[in-house]
Amino acid sequence: PASVVPLAPEDPLFGLMAAYRADDFKEKVDLGIGAYRDDDAKPWVLPVVKRAQEILRNDPALNHEYLPIAGLAPFTSAAARLILGSDSPALKEGRTTSIQTISGTGAVHLGGLFLSKFYPRPASQPVYFSNPTWANHNQIFSNVHLPIKTYPYFSPSTRGLDFDGMISALESAPEGSIILLHACAHNPTGVDPTREQWKEIAKVVRARNHFPFFDCAYQGFASGDLGNDAWAVRYFISEGFELCIAQSFAKNFGLYGQRAGCFHFVTSPSADARETVKRIASQLAILQRSEISNPPAYGARIASLILNDEKLFAEWEDNLRTMSGRIIDMRRALRGKLEEMGTPGSWKHITEQIGMFSFTGLSEKQVAKIREDAHVYMTKNGRISMAGLNTHNIDYFAKAVDKVVRE
Ligand code: LMR
Repeated sequence: PASVVPLAPEDPLFGLMAAYRADDFKEKVDLGIGAYRDDDAKPWVLPVVKRAQEILRNDPALNHEYLPIAGLAPFTSAAARLILGSDSPALKEGRTTSIQTISGTGAVHLGGLFLSKFYPRPASQPVYFSNPTWANHNQIFSNVHLPIKTYPYFSPSTRGLDFDGMISALESAPEGSIILLHACAHNPTGVDPTREQWKEIAKVVRARNHFPFFDCAYQGFASGDLGNDAWAVRYFISEGFELCIAQSFAKNFGLYGQRAGCFHFVTSPSADARETVKRIASQLAILQRSEISNPPAYGARIASLILNDEKLFAEWEDNLRTMSGRIIDMRRALRGKLEEMGTPGSWKHITEQIGMFSFTGLSEKQVAKIREDAHVYMTKNGRISMAGLNTHNIDYFAKAVDKVVRE
C-alpha cells in the first residue's frame, strides 16, 4: 500500500530556508522566513526571555509533569488579557475561553477543526481568506475539510489595500460565512486596514452575519505598541461580535521553536454566555486531547513569567521596540537607497507597509533572477522579511533590486 503514496512537493518556505543554508556564497541574503534577525543577521534571544529562563533554571519546584489539557492557566489567562485588553468587557463578563496551542499554526488548526465540527453552515460553504494570505492557511483549513475562497485584499497597482474589492466580496459572501482576518501586520503584504476601514469591515461582517476568525501572529510588530496592534480585535469585541482568535508568541517573544500560542473563543454578550463558553471549552479540550494530549510547557512558562510580572513586561515592551524599531529603520533605508539610485518605479510602499514583511512588487521572474545572480532569497510572490536586512547587507540588496528592475 505504501506504493500509492505520491511524492509531495517540499514546503516552499522551509525549502527556501534549506536552500539558503546550503548556499556557500559569502554575501548571500536571507529574506525568506518571518523570523527576527539582529543587525548581524543572527537570531536574537530577547534579553527578557534570557532573564525568564534564568528564573526557571533556579526554580527548585519546576518539574516535567504534564500540563493540563487546556495548558498553563496563568499563561492562557495572561494571553487573553494581552490580546483582549485587561479591561475587556468580554473578560469581565466571563465570555471567553482560552486554550494553549502549538503556537499560531496549532491555534488556527484547532479553531478550524472546532468550526468544521460545530459551526452550523452548509458543507459547501467556504471560509474566506484574504488574497493573498499566509500560505499555510490554505492547507490547515483544507486538512479539516473546510472549502476555501478568497476576498480581494492587495491592490498590485497601489501596493496597498483593495478596500472596495474586499468590502464588496464580504457583502456578496453567503450569509454567515467564516472570514479569516489578520489582526495586524498582514502576512505576506504588510498592508493593514486603517481604523476607519476596520469599522466599515465590521459593519459588513455584522450586516451579513459573518463570523470573524482573527489570526494574530505579530502583536507588537506592526506599531511597536501592543495595545495599538490589538485594536481591530478589541474593536470587534466592543461591538459585541462572537469571534475567535489564533494567537502566536513565536515572533513577539522570539520563541519560534518553543511553539507557544493560544486559541481564544469569545461569545457575544448574553445571559447564558458563561454556560456557552463552558460548553465550547469542553469540546476544545476533547479535540486537544485527541490531537496533542496537552501542550508543551517550556515556552508557555517563559511567556507566562513575563506576561504576569510588571517589570519583566516593561522590559519585554522595550525589547519589542528594539525589534520593530530596527525593522522601521531598514524600511526607511531601503526606500532611501532605491530612490537615491533612481530605481525605476515607486518605492513608497516599502515604508507604508508595516510589520515583519514587505511585498516588494518584484515579479516571480525577478525573484528567481535575484536569487540566481545575487544569492538573495525571498518567497516567489516577492515578499521580503524586513528583519533579514541590516546595515551590512542593505546596500548590496538595494543594488541587486536596482539591477533586476532595470533588466
Ligand atoms: C512566515 O510566514 O514566514 C512565518 O509565519 C513562518 C511560517 O511558519 O510560515
